[in-house]
Amino acid sequence: MSVLEYNRRAWDKAVERGSEWTIPVGPEVIAAARRGEWSIVLTPTKPVPRAWFPASLAGCDVLCLAGGGGQQGPTLAAAGARVTVFDNSPAQLAQDQLVAEREGLEIRTVQGDMADLSVFADASFDLIVHPCSNLFVPDVRPVWREAYRVLRPDGELLAGFTNPALYLFDMQLHDHGVLQVRHKLPYSDLTHLRPEELRRYQDDLQPMEYSHTLDDQIGGQLDAGFVLVGFYEDTWAGMALAEYMPCYLATRARKP
Ligand SMILES: C[S@@+](CC[C@H](N)C(=O)[O-])C[C@H]1O[C@@H](n2cnc3c(N)ncnc32)[C@H](O)[C@@H]1O
Repeated sequence: MSVLEYNRRAWDKAVERGSEWTIPVGPEVIAAARRGEWSIVLTPTKPVPRAWFPASLAGCDVLCLAGGGGQQGPTLAAAGARVTVFDNSPAQLAQDQLVAEREGLEIRTVQGDMADLSVFADASFDLIVHPCSNLFVPDVRPVWREAYRVLRPDGELLAGFTNPALYLFDMQLHDHGVLQVRHKLPYSDLTHLRPEELRRYQDDLQPMEYSHTLDDQIGGQLDAGFVLVGFYEDTWAGMALAEYMPCYLATRARKP
C-alpha cells in the first residue's frame, strides 16, 4: 500500500478517534466569523496575524491545502471567502461538509494529494492556507511548486510546518518527557523506526511522518518562485521539547 493510501486510512481513523485536528468548529465560531470576528491557526496555538489576510475576504478564492477537519475552511467561508478544502482523507473532508450543511455555507471539498494539484487550473486562487500537514508527504518541494502554480499573481501562501529538530529525538521517550537524541535527519518513520516499532505504529494506524530540511521547507518556497514576507514560530505546551524551543514555524509567501 502506498504512503498516500495508508495515511488516508490513518486520517480517516483519526476522525473516528476524535483527534484534536479533526474536530470541527462549533456554531459560535461561525456566528462570530459572520460578524467579522475570526482567527485561524496554521500551527498548534498561535493565531495567524490578521494582517496576513486581505482586509476583506469577500470574493477571495481560498484553498485550504491539506486542511480538512472542519476548522479553517468553514471559518474562512463564514468570513466571506469562496473556499475549497483539499485533503487526502474523505473523513476529514466530511467534517468540512458537516459544518457547511449545519451552517448553510458553501464549501467545495476535493480529495487528493497535496503534491499534485492538477485538478486545479493555473492561477485559480488568491490565497492558500496550508496548516501543519506536509510532515505526511515524503517530498515537500512539489507542494510548493503546485501551490505557486495555482495561485494568481500577488496571491499568497500561508503555511505552517514542523521544525525538523523535533525529529532528532526518540518520540516514545519524548512522549514520557525524556529528551534523548536518537535520529539523524531527515527523519522518516519508515526508515528510522525499528521494525517492531513501525509494526506497532502501523497496527495502530498512526499516520506516517517525515521531517523535512529547512532547505526544503524555506528554500523550497523560494526556489518555487515565492518571496517570503512574513514569519513566526509557535510552541505547543505539553511537549517536552517545548520547554527548550518553539517547534513550529509559519511563513507568509507571496507570488510576485
Ligand atoms: C494535522 S491535519 C491539518 C488540518 C487541520 N484542520 C489543522 O488545523 O491542523 C493534517 C491533514 O493533512 C491531511 N493529509 C495528509 N497527507 C496528505 C496528502 N498527501 N495530501 C493531502 N492531504 C493530506 C490529513 O488528511 C489531515 O487532514
